[in-house]
Amino acid sequence: MKRVVVGHSSEVTERRSRIVHVDGVEIAIFKLTGGKLRAIENLCPHKNGKLSEGIVCDHHVFCPLHDWKINLNDGLVQEPDEGCVRTYSVEVEEATGNIILLVEQGSSLAS
Ligand code: FES
Repeated sequence: MKRVVVGHSSEVTERRSRIVHVDGVEIAIFKLTGGKLRAIENLCPHKNGKLSEGIVCDHHVFCPLHDWKINLNDGLVQEPDEGCVRTYSVEVEEATGNIILLVEQGSSLAS
């Protein structure tokens, strides 16, 4: 795993998200109430809705297209629907406030 800086914590509002691209994959970084970050692929497994535009409630996001509920901790779609969204490890660097995304070796940062 390597650590990639993808922005600054101040750029993400609570219960909102910011989109970054890593190796052509669009990733939505959400800030939960209380400030914790979660990162998931910005693609609903139902019909490719942009999860970054969904409503965040606690540690779930509701897809803006058909309201599927997705757990931001593990990417699992909640019943009665099913599926899974890819998740990424993300943290805030204490000293700088930078958002660090942990990606597989060999990946590179796009924007
Ligand atoms: S595209 Fe997300 S619920 Fe349909």
